[in-house]
Amino acid sequence: MIHLLEPKWFQGRGIPSWRDKLDLLLHRLNISAPSELLDKAFGLSLSDQYWLKPFDNDIKYDDINFFDNYFDYTEFMEASLSKNSKTITNEKSLKTPNNTTDGMLKKAWIIEGNTRYLLKGGYKNEILQPFNEVLASIICERLGFNHVTYFIDTYKDMVVSKCPCFITKDTELITAYQIKNNMNRHDSIEDYEEYIKLLENQGIEDARIKIENMYILDFLIMNEDRHLNNFGIIRDVNTLKWLDIAPIFDNGQSLNIQDYNDEEVMISGHGHLFYEIKPFDEIIKVVKNIKRIDISKLDGVVEEFDDLLHKYQHITNMSDRRINKLCILLNSQINKLKKLINN
Ligand SMILES: Nc1ncnc2c1ncn2[C@@H]1O[C@H](COP(=O)(O)OP(=O)(O)OP(=O)(O)O)[C@@H](O)[C@H]1O
Ligand SMILES: [Mg+2]
Repeated sequence: MIHLLEPKWFQGRGIPSWRDKLDLLLHRLNISAPSELLDKAFGLSLSDQYWLKPFDNDIKYDDINFFDNYFDYTEFMEASLSKNSKTITNEKSLKTPNNTTDGMLKKAWIIEGNTRYLLKGGYKNEILQPFNEVLASIICERLGFNHVTYFIDTYKDMVVSKCPCFITKDTELITAYQIKNNMNRHDSIEDYEEYIKLLENQGIEDARIKIENMYILDFLIMNEDRHLNNFGIIRDVNTLKWLDIAPIFDNGQSLNIQDYNDEEVMISGHGHLFYEIKPFDEIIKVVKNIKRIDISKLDGVVEEFDDLLHKYQHITNMSDRRINKLCILLNSQINKLKKLINN
Protein backbone atom coordinates (compact mmCIF):
# COMPACT_ATOMS: atom_id res chain seq x y z
CA MET A 1 0.00 0.00 0.00
CA ILE A 2 2.66 2.51 0.95
CA HIS A 3 5.38 2.60 -1.66
CA LEU A 4 8.23 2.60 0.77
CA LEU A 5 10.93 2.18 -1.80
CA GLU A 6 9.89 5.19 -3.81
CA PRO A 7 12.21 8.18 -3.32
CA LYS A 8 9.09 10.31 -3.87
CA TRP A 9 7.54 8.80 -0.77
CA PHE A 10 10.64 9.59 1.23
CA GLN A 11 10.91 13.16 -0.06
CA GLY A 12 7.22 13.64 0.69
CA ARG A 13 8.02 12.86 4.30
CA GLY A 14 9.71 16.22 4.81
CA ILE A 15 8.26 19.62 5.62
CA PRO A 16 6.16 20.53 2.55
CA SER A 17 7.06 23.35 0.18
CA TRP A 18 3.75 25.06 1.03
CA ARG A 19 4.55 25.41 4.75
CA ASP A 20 3.73 28.94 5.86
CA LYS A 21 6.93 31.06 6.05
CA LEU A 22 9.10 28.14 4.91
CA ASP A 23 11.86 30.45 3.67
CA LEU A 24 12.17 32.09 7.04
CA LEU A 25 12.22 28.73 8.79
CA LEU A 26 14.95 27.41 6.49
CA HIS A 27 16.98 30.54 7.08
CA ARG A 28 16.64 30.15 10.82
CA LEU A 29 17.57 26.49 10.63
CA ASN A 30 20.54 27.42 8.47
CA ILE A 31 19.65 24.97 5.70
CA SER A 32 18.53 25.43 2.11
CA ALA A 33 15.83 22.76 1.67
CA PRO A 34 13.55 20.65 3.92
CA SER A 35 15.10 17.50 2.41
CA GLU A 36 18.32 18.35 4.26
CA LEU A 37 16.53 17.58 7.49
CA LEU A 38 15.48 14.08 6.50
CA ASP A 39 18.68 12.33 7.49
CA LYS A 40 19.41 14.43 10.55
CA ALA A 41 17.35 12.21 12.83
CA PHE A 42 17.02 8.94 10.91
CA GLY A 43 13.84 10.23 9.23
CA LEU A 44 11.97 9.59 12.49
CA SER A 45 8.47 10.91 13.05
CA LEU A 46 5.82 11.03 15.77
CA SER A 47 3.06 10.03 13.34
CA ASP A 48 4.49 6.67 12.28
CA GLN A 49 7.41 4.32 12.94
CA TYR A 50 9.47 4.43 9.74
CA TRP A 51 13.12 5.28 10.04
CA LEU A 52 16.39 4.91 8.15
CA LYS A 53 19.00 2.65 9.65
CA PRO A 54 22.51 3.37 8.44
CA PHE A 55 23.91 0.10 7.05
CA ASP A 56 27.15 0.36 9.07
CA ASN A 57 25.46 1.10 12.38
CA ASP A 58 23.83 -1.27 14.84
CA ILE A 59 21.72 1.42 16.45
CA LYS A 60 18.33 0.24 17.81
CA TYR A 61 14.95 1.89 17.27
CA ASP A 62 14.33 1.72 21.02
CA ASP A 63 17.32 3.96 21.60
CA ILE A 64 16.43 6.67 19.12
CA ASN A 65 12.65 6.89 18.59
CA PHE A 66 11.05 10.12 19.74
CA PHE A 67 8.13 8.46 21.50
CA ASP A 68 10.45 7.30 24.30
CA ASN A 69 13.54 9.40 23.85
CA TYR A 70 13.92 13.05 24.69
CA PHE A 71 14.54 15.61 21.98
CA ASP A 72 15.69 19.18 22.28
CA TYR A 73 12.69 21.12 21.06
CA THR A 74 13.17 24.69 22.24
CA GLU A 75 15.24 26.06 19.37
CA PHE A 76 13.06 24.56 16.62
CA MET A 77 9.93 25.78 18.41
CA GLU A 78 11.36 29.26 18.45
CA ALA A 79 12.51 29.09 14.82
CA SER A 80 9.10 27.88 13.72
CA LEU A 81 6.71 29.90 15.86
CA SER A 82 8.47 32.98 17.09
CA LYS A 83 8.34 36.36 15.38
CA ASN A 84 12.00 36.91 16.21
CA SER A 85 14.49 34.10 16.38
CA LYS A 86 18.19 33.63 15.90
CA THR A 87 19.74 31.16 13.49
CA ILE A 88 20.15 27.71 14.98
CA THR A 89 23.77 26.79 15.53
CA ASN A 90 23.34 23.69 17.66
CA GLU A 91 23.07 20.56 15.47
CA LYS A 92 21.17 18.86 18.32
CA SER A 93 18.25 21.18 17.68
CA LEU A 94 17.81 19.59 14.25
CA LYS A 95 17.39 16.10 15.71
CA THR A 96 13.66 16.30 16.31
CA PRO A 97 10.43 14.90 14.86
CA ASN A 98 9.80 18.36 13.38
CA ASN A 99 11.87 17.28 10.37
CA THR A 100 9.01 15.08 9.19
CA THR A 101 5.86 17.03 10.01
CA ASP A 102 3.38 17.59 7.21
CA GLY A 103 1.01 20.51 6.76
CA MET A 104 0.75 24.12 5.86
CA LEU A 105 0.79 25.70 9.29
CA LYS A 106 3.83 26.63 11.33
CA LYS A 107 4.17 23.98 13.98
CA ALA A 108 6.47 22.36 16.52
CA TRP A 109 6.53 19.23 18.65
CA ILE A 110 7.27 19.80 22.31
CA ILE A 111 7.54 17.59 25.39
CA GLU A 112 5.76 18.25 28.68
CA GLY A 113 6.06 15.59 31.35
CA ASN A 114 6.06 12.43 29.30
CA THR A 115 3.62 13.71 26.70
CA ARG A 116 4.50 14.88 23.21
CA TYR A 117 2.33 17.81 22.11
CA LEU A 118 2.00 19.47 18.72
CA LEU A 119 1.82 23.26 18.79
CA LYS A 120 0.30 24.94 15.72
CA GLY A 121 0.10 28.62 14.89
CA GLY A 122 -2.24 30.45 12.54
CA TYR A 123 -1.71 30.96 8.81
CA LYS A 124 0.18 34.17 8.03
CA ASN A 125 -1.49 36.80 10.22
CA GLU A 126 -4.67 34.82 10.80
CA ILE A 127 -5.25 33.88 14.44
CA LEU A 128 -8.55 32.01 14.23
CA GLN A 129 -7.17 28.49 13.54
CA PRO A 130 -6.29 27.63 17.16
CA PHE A 131 -9.75 28.72 18.32
CA ASN A 132 -11.45 26.67 15.63
CA GLU A 133 -9.45 23.65 16.76
CA VAL A 134 -10.71 24.13 20.31
CA LEU A 135 -14.27 24.69 19.11
CA ALA A 136 -14.09 21.40 17.19
CA SER A 137 -12.89 19.64 20.35
CA ILE A 138 -15.76 21.10 22.37
CA ILE A 139 -18.33 19.98 19.78
CA CYS A 140 -16.81 16.50 19.43
CA GLU A 141 -16.66 16.09 23.19
CA ARG A 142 -20.34 16.99 23.56
CA LEU A 143 -21.50 14.82 20.66
CA GLY A 144 -19.29 11.89 21.66
CA PHE A 145 -17.13 11.91 18.49
CA ASN A 146 -13.69 10.39 18.79
CA HIS A 147 -11.30 13.31 18.40
CA VAL A 148 -7.95 14.79 19.23
CA THR A 149 -8.36 17.32 22.04
CA TYR A 150 -6.94 20.73 21.24
CA PHE A 151 -6.29 23.42 23.83
CA ILE A 152 -5.31 27.05 23.54
CA ASP A 153 -1.80 27.84 24.64
CA THR A 154 0.32 30.94 24.33
CA TYR A 155 3.85 31.00 23.09
CA LYS A 156 5.59 34.32 23.61
CA ASP A 157 2.83 36.75 22.62
CA MET A 158 1.09 34.39 20.23
CA VAL A 159 -1.88 32.12 20.54
CA VAL A 160 -1.28 28.55 19.38
CA SER A 161 -3.24 25.32 19.53
CA LYS A 162 -1.80 22.42 21.44
CA CYS A 163 -2.77 18.78 21.13
CA PRO A 164 -1.26 15.54 22.39
CA CYS A 165 0.26 13.05 19.98
CA PHE A 166 -2.40 10.46 19.10
CA ILE A 167 0.12 7.90 17.84
CA THR A 168 1.99 5.52 20.13
CA LYS A 169 5.12 3.47 19.62
CA ASP A 170 2.92 0.61 18.39
CA THR A 171 0.75 2.52 15.93
CA GLU A 172 0.90 4.67 12.83
CA LEU A 173 -1.38 7.06 11.02
CA ILE A 174 -2.27 6.02 7.49
CA THR A 175 -4.07 8.85 5.79
CA ALA A 176 -6.99 8.43 3.39
CA TYR A 177 -4.65 9.72 0.69
CA GLN A 178 -2.34 6.75 1.20
CA ILE A 179 -5.28 4.37 1.34
CA LYS A 180 -6.86 5.83 -1.79
CA ASN A 181 -3.59 5.54 -3.70
CA ASN A 182 -4.45 2.01 -4.68
CA MET A 183 -8.09 2.67 -5.41
CA ASN A 184 -9.77 3.95 -8.50
CA ARG A 185 -11.01 7.49 -8.61
CA HIS A 186 -14.76 7.85 -9.22
CA ASP A 187 -17.34 10.39 -8.34
CA SER A 188 -17.07 11.51 -4.72
CA ILE A 189 -20.00 9.48 -3.39
CA GLU A 190 -18.60 6.32 -4.95
CA ASP A 191 -15.16 7.10 -3.51
CA TYR A 192 -16.78 7.61 -0.14
CA GLU A 193 -18.66 4.31 -0.29
CA GLU A 194 -15.61 2.43 -1.53
CA TYR A 195 -13.50 3.87 1.29
CA ILE A 196 -16.05 2.88 3.93
CA LYS A 197 -16.33 -0.61 2.49
CA LEU A 198 -12.57 -1.02 2.58
CA LEU A 199 -12.41 0.07 6.23
CA GLU A 200 -15.30 -2.25 7.15
CA ASN A 201 -13.60 -5.13 5.34
CA GLN A 202 -10.49 -4.45 7.39
CA GLY A 203 -12.60 -4.89 10.52
CA ILE A 204 -12.90 -1.28 11.65
CA GLU A 205 -15.98 -1.09 13.85
CA ASP A 206 -18.64 1.50 13.04
CA ALA A 207 -16.50 2.90 10.24
CA ARG A 208 -19.47 4.56 8.58
CA ILE A 209 -20.73 6.24 11.75
CA LYS A 210 -17.29 7.55 12.60
CA ILE A 211 -16.70 8.99 9.15
CA GLU A 212 -20.18 10.50 9.16
CA ASN A 213 -19.30 12.12 12.50
CA MET A 214 -16.37 13.86 10.86
CA TYR A 215 -18.63 15.28 8.15
CA ILE A 216 -21.18 16.38 10.77
CA LEU A 217 -18.43 18.29 12.54
CA ASP A 218 -17.28 19.78 9.23
CA PHE A 219 -20.84 20.93 8.56
CA LEU A 220 -21.18 22.54 11.99
CA ILE A 221 -17.96 24.51 11.82
CA MET A 222 -17.81 24.78 8.01
CA ASN A 223 -14.42 23.12 7.77
CA GLU A 224 -13.07 23.74 4.28
CA ASP A 225 -9.99 21.63 4.60
CA ARG A 226 -10.98 17.97 4.93
CA HIS A 227 -8.56 16.86 2.25
CA LEU A 228 -7.37 13.28 2.12
CA ASN A 229 -4.42 13.86 4.43
CA ASN A 230 -6.65 15.27 7.14
CA PHE A 231 -8.27 11.95 8.02
CA GLY A 232 -7.34 8.30 7.97
CA ILE A 233 -6.92 5.22 10.07
CA ILE A 234 -4.66 3.95 12.83
CA ARG A 235 -2.74 0.77 12.11
CA ASP A 236 -0.93 -1.50 14.55
CA VAL A 237 2.67 -1.52 13.33
CA ASN A 238 3.40 -4.94 14.83
CA THR A 239 0.41 -6.88 13.50
CA LEU A 240 -0.49 -4.50 10.61
CA LYS A 241 -4.10 -4.72 11.82
CA TRP A 242 -6.25 -1.67 11.05
CA LEU A 243 -7.32 -0.69 14.55
CA ASP A 244 -9.65 2.24 14.15
CA ILE A 245 -10.44 5.45 12.35
CA ALA A 246 -7.95 8.12 13.37
CA PRO A 247 -9.48 10.52 15.90
CA ILE A 248 -10.74 13.66 14.17
CA PHE A 249 -7.86 16.15 13.81
CA ASP A 250 -6.94 19.37 11.95
CA ASN A 251 -10.14 21.40 12.01
CA GLY A 252 -8.72 24.92 12.03
CA GLN A 253 -9.60 26.03 8.51
CA SER A 254 -13.22 26.73 9.40
CA LEU A 255 -15.89 29.38 9.97
CA ASN A 256 -15.19 31.21 6.72
CA ILE A 257 -11.65 31.83 7.75
CA GLN A 258 -10.48 32.55 4.20
CA ASP A 259 -13.36 34.74 3.14
CA TYR A 260 -14.02 36.74 6.25
CA ASN A 261 -15.81 39.91 5.41
CA ASP A 262 -16.33 42.66 7.93
CA GLU A 263 -19.57 43.73 6.32
CA GLU A 264 -21.59 40.55 5.97
CA VAL A 265 -21.89 37.05 7.31
CA MET A 266 -21.36 34.51 4.56
CA ILE A 267 -23.62 31.64 5.33
CA SER A 268 -22.86 29.28 2.52
CA GLY A 269 -19.62 27.47 2.07
CA HIS A 270 -17.85 24.53 0.55
CA GLY A 271 -16.07 21.59 2.05
CA HIS A 272 -14.30 18.48 0.79
CA LEU A 273 -15.87 15.14 0.07
CA PHE A 274 -12.89 13.14 -1.10
CA TYR A 275 -11.57 14.74 -4.30
CA GLU A 276 -14.59 16.93 -4.75
CA ILE A 277 -15.33 20.35 -3.32
CA LYS A 278 -19.04 20.61 -2.57
CA PRO A 279 -21.45 22.80 -0.60
CA PHE A 280 -21.74 21.67 3.02
CA ASP A 281 -25.49 21.29 2.51
CA GLU A 282 -24.68 18.59 -0.07
CA ILE A 283 -21.93 16.84 1.89
CA ILE A 284 -24.14 16.42 4.96
CA LYS A 285 -26.47 14.25 2.88
CA VAL A 286 -23.99 11.36 3.18
CA VAL A 287 -25.16 10.96 6.79
CA LYS A 288 -27.67 8.11 6.68
CA ASN A 289 -29.50 8.82 9.92
CA ILE A 290 -28.95 12.35 11.11
CA LYS A 291 -31.64 11.84 13.78
CA ARG A 292 -29.11 9.88 15.84
CA ILE A 293 -27.53 13.24 16.80
CA ASP A 294 -28.80 14.77 20.05
CA ILE A 295 -28.47 18.40 19.04
CA SER A 296 -29.47 19.62 22.51
CA LYS A 297 -25.96 18.57 23.56
CA LEU A 298 -24.77 21.67 21.72
CA ASP A 299 -26.81 24.05 23.88
CA GLY A 300 -24.48 26.76 25.11
CA VAL A 301 -21.66 25.99 22.67
CA VAL A 302 -21.96 29.34 20.92
CA GLU A 303 -21.71 31.15 24.26
CA GLU A 304 -18.70 29.01 25.19
CA PHE A 305 -16.99 29.92 21.92
CA ASP A 306 -17.85 33.57 22.39
CA ASP A 307 -16.28 33.52 25.88
CA LEU A 308 -13.17 31.77 24.57
CA LEU A 309 -12.63 34.34 21.80
CA HIS A 310 -13.12 37.20 24.26
CA LYS A 311 -10.81 35.65 26.82
CA TYR A 312 -7.84 35.94 24.44
CA GLN A 313 -8.88 39.18 22.78
CA HIS A 314 -6.15 41.10 24.62
CA ILE A 315 -3.60 38.99 22.71
CA THR A 316 -5.37 38.44 19.40
CA ASN A 317 -6.94 41.88 19.02
CA MET A 318 -9.84 40.19 17.28
CA SER A 319 -12.59 42.75 16.88
CA ASP A 320 -15.93 42.40 18.70
CA ARG A 321 -17.52 42.57 15.28
CA ARG A 322 -15.65 39.54 14.03
CA ILE A 323 -16.33 37.57 17.20
CA ASN A 324 -19.99 38.39 16.81
CA LYS A 325 -20.00 37.25 13.18
CA LEU A 326 -18.24 34.01 14.02
CA CYS A 327 -20.85 33.29 16.67
CA ILE A 328 -23.70 34.11 14.28
CA LEU A 329 -22.22 31.74 11.73
CA LEU A 330 -21.78 28.92 14.23
CA ASN A 331 -25.27 29.45 15.55
CA SER A 332 -26.69 29.37 12.05
CA GLN A 333 -24.96 26.05 11.26
CA ILE A 334 -26.26 24.52 14.50
CA ASN A 335 -29.77 25.70 13.62
CA LYS A 336 -29.47 24.29 10.11
CA LEU A 337 -28.47 20.92 11.53
CA LYS A 338 -31.37 21.13 13.98
CA LYS A 339 -33.75 21.60 11.04
CA LEU A 340 -32.28 18.64 9.19
CA ILE A 341 -32.74 16.51 12.30
CA ASN A 342 -36.32 17.62 12.86
CA ASN A 343 -37.46 17.23 9.27
N1 LIG B 1 -1.76 14.96 17.47
C1 LIG B 1 -1.06 14.39 16.49
N2 LIG B 1 -0.42 13.20 16.70
C2 LIG B 1 0.29 12.62 15.69
N3 LIG B 1 0.42 13.13 14.46
C3 LIG B 1 -0.19 14.31 14.21
C4 LIG B 1 -0.97 14.98 15.20
N4 LIG B 1 -1.49 16.10 14.66
C5 LIG B 1 -1.04 16.14 13.40
N5 LIG B 1 -0.26 15.08 13.12
C6 LIG B 1 0.44 14.80 11.87
O1 LIG B 1 0.96 16.02 11.40
C7 LIG B 1 0.39 16.37 10.14
C8 LIG B 1 0.15 17.86 10.10
O2 LIG B 1 -0.76 18.23 11.11
P1 LIG B 1 -2.05 19.07 10.75
O3 LIG B 1 -2.82 18.37 9.70
O4 LIG B 1 -2.76 19.34 12.04
O5 LIG B 1 -1.35 20.39 10.20
P2 LIG B 1 -1.84 21.55 9.20
O6 LIG B 1 -0.67 22.40 8.97
O7 LIG B 1 -3.07 22.17 9.78
O8 LIG B 1 -2.21 20.73 7.90
P3 LIG B 1 -2.94 21.23 6.53
O9 LIG B 1 -1.85 21.47 5.55
O10 LIG B 1 -3.81 20.06 6.22
O11 LIG B 1 -3.71 22.48 6.90
C9 LIG B 1 -0.88 15.53 10.05
O12 LIG B 1 -1.23 15.28 8.72
C10 LIG B 1 -0.47 14.27 10.78
O13 LIG B 1 0.31 13.45 9.93
MG1 LIG C 1 -3.51 18.78 7.92
